[in-house]
Amino acid sequence: MSFKELEEIVEDILLSSKYKNINKRTISEIAKIESCKYKGKKSLVKAIKNKLHQIYGAFLTERDIEKINRLLDVLETDSRTLKETSKKILLLHCSTRERIESYETLYREIFSLTGSPKSILDLACGFNPYSIPWMDICGPIEYYAYDIDSLLIESINRFLGMINYPKLAIVKDIIFEDIEEYGDVCFIFKFLPTAERVKKGASIELLEKIKSQFIIVSFPLKSIGGKRKGMLENYSKIFEPVFTQRYIIMKRFILEEEVFYILRRGK
Ligand SMILES: C[S@@+](CC[C@H](N)C(=O)[O-])C[C@H]1O[C@@H](n2cnc3c(N)ncnc32)[C@H](O)[C@@H]1O
Repeated sequence: MSFKELEEIVEDILLSSKYKNINKRTISEIAKIESCKYKGKKSLVKAIKNKLHQIYGAFLTERDIEKINRLLDVLETDSRTLKETSKKILLLHCSTRERIESYETLYREIFSLTGSPKSILDLACGFNPYSIPWMDICGPIEYYAYDIDSLLIESINRFLGMINYPKLAIVKDIIFEDIEEYGDVCFIFKFLPTAERVKKGASIELLEKIKSQFIIVSFPLKSIGGKRKGMLENYSKIFEPVFTQRYIIMKRFILEEEVFYILRRGK
């Protein structure tokens, strides 16, 4: 398929209501990868949309972002509702909803080992930046949040502004784009299996381009459908050898339905 034909497919997908807010680079790169496997236009478009659904569509809808913005309107008029409003936002997303009761413990576990950070990278952040009120750190700090949805990133910057943090949320594909920014601590929550589905070997490439001293990686222990299928054993078998190529595993712990690794740059 020619470059021009591929470009037309990407533009068409960008016009669809489901994917119009997504980073163009993400769609282009997935289109390039999938075009090596599917030759016909119809099957190629189907394959690209399938991938986009797996990495994005299954987690985010425009209606959720509208709800976030309505909740931020409330917060704007009354800053005393910070935790209450943030909690309502965290409840909108399956990943953050599962963590809701353990955020305090999670951040205590992390920062007791890493020290209180002056900067954080939150990669493929989803709604996680709305958990800042549970971090118990001396703010404002530099909080770099990256995701591929432009409306989500806009809402996060609005929130960061409200809590007097610099507006450092950016639309960025963390698999295919560079990560120049530095964070004392870097979060990669529930993302590496997705990255591998897009591009084999993406996890090690990602871990190599992050400059942080500490990386906190997590994996779900339950599928979106609610099934536990030996995920702890599977993920530890696949990813621990990847981690130990460059990092030391300082701690592994489970909270609710998620396993966390605290990694320190070491080799
Ligand atoms: C399962 S959610 C996890 C969200 C968050 N890390 C958490 O655990 O609360 C996956 C997120 O990754 C984002 N995403 C998918 N592919 C991405 C990419 N290549 N670069 C950056 N973000 C991506 C999606 O938009 C979605 O918000």
